[in-house]
Amino acid sequence: MTVTALTGISQLVTNDPTHEYAEAASGPLGVVRDAAVLCDDGRVLWTGPAAALPSSMADGVTDLGGRAVVPGFVDSHAHLAFAGDRSDEFAARMAGESYSAGGIRSTVAHTRAASDVDLAASVRRLADEALRQGTTTLESKSGYGLSVHDERRSLEAVRAVTTEATFLGAHVVPAEFAGRPDDYVALVIGEMLDACAPLARWIDVFCDVGAFDVDQTRAILTAGMAAGLTPRLHAGQLAPGGGIQLGVELGAASVDHVTHASDDDVEALAGSTTVATLLPGAEFSTRAAYPDARRLLAAGATVALAADCNPGSSYTTSIPFCIAVAVRDMHMAPAEALWSATAGGAAALRRTDVGHLGVGAAADLLVLDAPSYVHLAYRPGVPLVESVWRAGQRVVGRER
Ligand code: NIG
Ligand code: FE
Repeated sequence: MTVTALTGISQLVTNDPTHEYAEAASGPLGVVRDAAVLCDDGRVLWTGPAAALPSSMADGVTDLGGRAVVPGFVDSHAHLAFAGDRSDEFAARMAGESYSAGGIRSTVAHTRAASDVDLAASVRRLADEALRQGTTTLESKSGYGLSVHDERRSLEAVRAVTTEATFLGAHVVPAEFAGRPDDYVALVIGEMLDACAPLARWIDVFCDVGAFDVDQTRAILTAGMAAGLTPRLHAGQLAPGGGIQLGVELGAASVDHVTHASDDDVEALAGSTTVATLLPGAEFSTRAAYPDARRLLAAGATVALAADCNPGSSYTTSIPFCIAVAVRDMHMAPAEALWSATAGGAAALRRTDVGHLGVGAAADLLVLDAPSYVHLAYRPGVPLVESVWRAGQRVVGRER
């Protein structure tokens, strides 16, 4: 067991508002100035003002030279198990075409044609790309296989990089089931669920126009719950519908996108433990109107921000990019956006060990090449994550 001390922290975001040394004005972020962190090769042991660091406990000290430290990002929504890209579709969209769920089928064809080795390598490449930008906890879905064999091997590839694996057999109805959606739903909740449930923690459905309706979604999520999975779902991305309230009714951990939400939807989310996960990369890359974050926050809903990395609607792994867009275009305060991308993501994954730097939390943290977390939005497009520490080990960045 090695105990590491990090000193020279201009601003430490703990996400622990009860921290003894937190600045009162910093609210939920629990910011400590001129701080230090002590961690072992797993957990946070102590945080506080550098002047009070119990340095005799440390085996080694790293001086961060006046940089800000924030919890590692928790990206609770990604679709990493795919092959090919859809840059032509993106270019056509930027020339005026609109986005629809139908493009998913072209990625399904590429994914089915990819070997297990290539699929696993592609998931690993994207997970590493996310880590370099500060994502220390990552969820990923299947959903581009859409056959028993291809969904199962998609989840196997996902599980090589994260335990937060989500079975999304109900992404769209694949081409071979065209005109027979009920037959496909029967496959998803039958043989496909049997094959995939042992590999997943979560079950997800794309409940929207061109994908699955509320009745189909209810049947699939309920079957998944009976198989021991916890529900989360895509709803309200392309059109309003009953998906958001269905998610709340079923006790889903999160409803994701929430771009089209009625007052009743917002009220239902606010009165529940279901997190509203907003995915600004999708609106950015489909040139759609952003979800109304201010309305959700004003109502008291718990809001998460995630990247939604996928080849169709949001081909980014960058949480700093999503924070910048959420601040600039969704009118979230920099503090709200950072909280949503850390503690909010943890809530969406029902995790209490990540998304904050309280004593006992996973020692997953980011050193920013900036004196303040506000720079994440203030300096858009600049790679500010200087180093990434996971479980108390530096996994990205050089020794100082
Ligand atoms: O979350 N909305 C459904 N799934 C993805 C898009 C998938 C695709 O276009 O390939 C999303 O945006
Ligand atoms: Fe998605």
